[in-house]
Amino acid sequence: MAKALTLLLSILVVSFCKPSNGAGIGVYWGQDGREGTLAEACHTGNYQFVNVAFLSSFGNGVSTPELNLAGHCDPSAGTCTVFSDNITYCQNLGIKVLLSIGGGLGHYGLSSADDAVKVAYYIWNSFLGGHEKSITRPLGDAILDGVDFAIDTGSGLYWDDLARALHGFSGQRKVYLAAAPQCLFPDEHLDTAIATGLFDYVWVQFYNNDRCDYSGDANNVLNGWKESWITVQANQVFLGLPAAPAAAPGGGFIPVDVLNSQVLPSVNTSPKFGGVMLWNRYYDMLYGYSDDIILDGTKLISPA
Ligand SMILES: *[C@@H]1O[C@H](CO)[C@@H](O)[C@H](O)[C@H]1NC(C)=O
Repeated sequence: MAKALTLLLSILVVSFCKPSNGAGIGVYWGQDGREGTLAEACHTGNYQFVNVAFLSSFGNGVSTPELNLAGHCDPSAGTCTVFSDNITYCQNLGIKVLLSIGGGLGHYGLSSADDAVKVAYYIWNSFLGGHEKSITRPLGDAILDGVDFAIDTGSGLYWDDLARALHGFSGQRKVYLAAAPQCLFPDEHLDTAIATGLFDYVWVQFYNNDRCDYSGDANNVLNGWKESWITVQANQVFLGLPAAPAAAPGGGFIPVDVLNSQVLPSVNTSPKFGGVMLWNRYYDMLYGYSDDIILDGTKLISPA
């Protein structure tokens, strides 16, 4: 009886603490050669998640999937393996490092459920815990924490199959799944995948879309958040925001004082609120947006 009570109390304590302990900041790294190394991004202490962007070419029978890390390194020459130690460095700071697949450019898509399984095996062996000897690992031996679905183009078919297949590799070490839908709900590419309920993190891109991003007042964002996004079946939902006006030519930049005073206090009320995801590290490095974000009434406490 006493044991059960203690257990119940700890569950309550854990669930009450969750909103304040769980909120954090994530960032996309990899699409601008001027943004510094992955380790430097992690060293700031500002982030709990880094999405390494992007695996830009895969699926549809593409025989050699391609990683694209802009000016950082040349995957075809094997030079991106220099970031292997950066990945473990970040992980040792408690930061989750995910492989982001898709993006705005590139050639990707899934032609069938079989194709999805093939892509899942490729990702597992090339970036996660699989170590099939015949497969080269573009980022070296480091084992990434999971996969972020940043699917912006093509059809919405078979992404749920990919999610299930990747989730199936979770074992001793969990394969985290994240999705970056665009803010118009439901997202045409990722809705079915998210509906599997297998996603740990959903960071909604509240930018580059006048119909749902911030454009002078916060109602668009807050309505979309409350009516739709916070209801999705995911462990945590994040506001995805541009770190500077130039990061999102299509709009959606929220001045940080407006974010802190008008947006975060409203979205913060849900236990599923995970925090903020920023596009991208380069702009955050230039302007220090994440330095000024106030989550849970206190400035973000560094994970380091
Ligand atoms: C991160 O990667 C760079 C290579 O781009 C390397 O020079 C640096 O030593 C690495 N830092 C850590 C902490 O792994």
